[in-house]
Amino acid sequence: MKTKQLLLGLAASATLATMASAQIVGSRHDFSSNSWSDGEICKPCHTPHFAMADLPRLWNHELTTATNYILHEGSGTVEDDFDLISRLCLSCHDGTVALDSFGGQTGTEFIPSSANLGVDFTNDHPVGSDALYPPDPQPSWWAGAFNDPSTFPSRVGLEDWVDPNGVTQKVVGCATCHNPHNRDGFDLLNISNNASALCLTCHIK
Ligand code: HEC
Ligand code: HEC
Ligand code: HEC
Ligand code: HEC
Repeated sequence: MKTKQLLLGLAASATLATMASAQIVGSRHDFSSNSWSDGEICKPCHTPHFAMADLPRLWNHELTTATNYILHEGSGTVEDDFDLISRLCLSCHDGTVALDSFGGQTGTEFIPSSANLGVDFTNDHPVGSDALYPPDPQPSWWAGAFNDPSTFPSRVGLEDWVDPNGVTQKVVGCATCHNPHNRDGFDLLNISNNASALCLTCHIK
């Protein structure tokens, strides 16, 4: 009886481990083995208490305020030209704020170059003010080029960006394509990009 319970227990924890490894544990965003992370997974990004005021998702990481962005449509700033969730990502990924600048401390460890997008976005997929998604009704020039957002798989969503006139627009943001928790093992993407499925969500090609 005892052996059977033990085996069941092991089976249950093995299942949990498998499920967990398809999520953030062991993913490129699991920094718990890096000394700068305090040995925790969530803490570089979230905190249960004393999160940064005015930011969503119990955010714990210092935000970038870079003002020298180069966008497809000209110069810009991270605060004016990106949706809020993209700004959370860029607080590590534009390389201007240290990875270990969280919980109110100022860190010294910066993102590796392979994941550093920098502030020049002219060689990146348009995001934010560069990537307004068609308002409803669609202007005629969108027809035949882009799919209607109502046809997107539920995991692919547009982000809200407040334009200079204070109007909230739907735009492509980092979280349109990515999930920071490595959802279902798709390498930090929201859906698999096999056969370019993610790209074809929007582009009619
Ligand atoms: C590298 C940064 C990072 C790490 C590490 C991280 N998260 Fe997140 N998390 C984010 C970002 C960015 C968002 C906002 C994404 C969005 O709203 O689309 C988010 C959103 C969330 C949300 C709300 C939306 C959702 O996906 O349910 C929860 C809950 C959450 N995280 C929990 C956790 C937990 C628990 C951990 C640790 C096991 C963790 N996160 C680790 C960056 C991170
Ligand atoms: C706390 C800092 C931090 C935040 C916040 C963060 N990341 Fe990362 N991210 C990293 C680091 C560091 C790496 C590189 C890990 C490595 O090279 O092993 C990485 C890796 C990645 C990768 C994989 C790169 C590769 O080479 O495969 C993607 C994609 C990514 N991040 C997207 C995002 C998105 C999207 C967000 C916001 C939703 C985000 N990250 C928020 C620190 C962060
Ligand atoms: C239109 C979809 C899309 C958007 C928007 C997007 N990404 Fe990606 N990103 C991808 C795809 C697809 C990959 C390749 C992933 C792979 O091959 O595993 C990728 C790769 C990456 C990588 C790995 C390094 C590289 O250049 O290959 C990082 C880091 C990253 N993205 C971060 C971000 C951040 C931060 C944002 C927001 C500023 C963002 N991405 C916006 C689709 C997107
Ligand atoms: C959520 C919708 C969406 C997804 C997913 C998406 N795109 Fe886009 N893409 C856009 C929008 C919006 C623009 C900007 C159109 C404009 O303003 O001219 C754009 C622009 C582009 C451009 C033109 C860039 C330029 O320099 O003008 C290319 C190329 C492109 N996307 C390729 C891709 C690829 C490859 C993928 C998959 C990795 C992808 N897109 C995924 C919406 C999307």
